[in-house]
Amino acid sequence: MSSFTGNHILSVSQFDREAIELVFSVAQSMEPYAKRQKRTTVLDGAILGNLFFEPSTRTRVSFGTAFNLLGGEVRETTGMANSALAKGESLYDTARVLSGYSDIIAMRHPAAGSVAEFAEGSRVPVLNGGDGANEHPTQALLDLFTIKRELQFNNKTIDGLHIAMIGDLRYGRTVHSLSKLLCLFKNVRFTLISPKELAMPDYILAAIENAGHSLKVTDQLEGNMDADICYQTRIQEERFPSQDEANKYRGKFRLNQSIYTRHFQSKTVIMHPLPRDSRTEANELDNDLNLNPNLAIFRQTDNGVLVRMALFALTLGVENLVSQYEKPVIWYSNKS
Ligand code: CP
Repeated sequence: MSSFTGNHILSVSQFDREAIELVFSVAQSMEPYAKRQKRTTVLDGAILGNLFFEPSTRTRVSFGTAFNLLGGEVRETTGMANSALAKGESLYDTARVLSGYSDIIAMRHPAAGSVAEFAEGSRVPVLNGGDGANEHPTQALLDLFTIKRELQFNNKTIDGLHIAMIGDLRYGRTVHSLSKLLCLFKNVRFTLISPKELAMPDYILAAIENAGHSLKVTDQLEGNMDADICYQTRIQEERFPSQDEANKYRGKFRLNQSIYTRHFQSKTVIMHPLPRDSRTEANELDNDLNLNPNLAIFRQTDNGVLVRMALFALTLGVENLVSQYEKPVIWYSNKS
């Protein structure tokens, strides 16, 4: 990716290490604004079309928050039933219309490939907020940004990382996108733990092997692993053919403090893209981990705002102008 300005962000396949480092460096520079130490109006007058045709809390709201923090305005539509897609309008026509109302669009849709199809009709950059079981590139970037930051505390780098991914690796798009990004790094060890029926798709396994990484696939949490990162996932019930099918796997791979102590190191960082399913029959990431300092799930969500601010600044070509449009924060804030 030689330039971000004016380009869609549809897949992690667009990124090389240089582009990732640029996103991370701009994301880092956004921290004072996200922490309300100062504010910027660099995107004053710009409009984000935030189109979420599938449920979302953090991706939708953090896209909107990131745009607001840069001084821009947000127009939203949520749910398929509330849009003209329910009347048979094509993604192309919807994109052509909504790109006339916006300077940039963030979109989530339940069908794989839908955001790329939408982008063909758009006259403004489109950022993929998740397309079915396919990809979630902005989540992968924020996950990688979090991994980099968490490893720095232990004087480690992403090169040489050992990551354990657990749960629904078949339908979980965040692990697909993150695995593809990790293929850009060196000597990564993957331990993939899932029921056989929910294993990582073959094309991702092939990409991991082609990158020369070490790969272990298993359906058991075994022994004490020396993983740097434990990346837990939810059973993606919305992508299963039926609820009965999803119920077979719910609660199979739970992580609580005692399981963590048995299988992981005292410094292993715990991640999850969220939402975690806290219902008793699932509970893949127990509340008893909430006080564990290695639980990074809420650092991930905070980092999501920084990364999405960076992507907006880069795609709209203002990454070097942010501080020129600075203003003081005059209200009470305890985020620092
Ligand atoms: N991680 C994530 O995509 O969360 P939401 O579904 O709440 O957006």
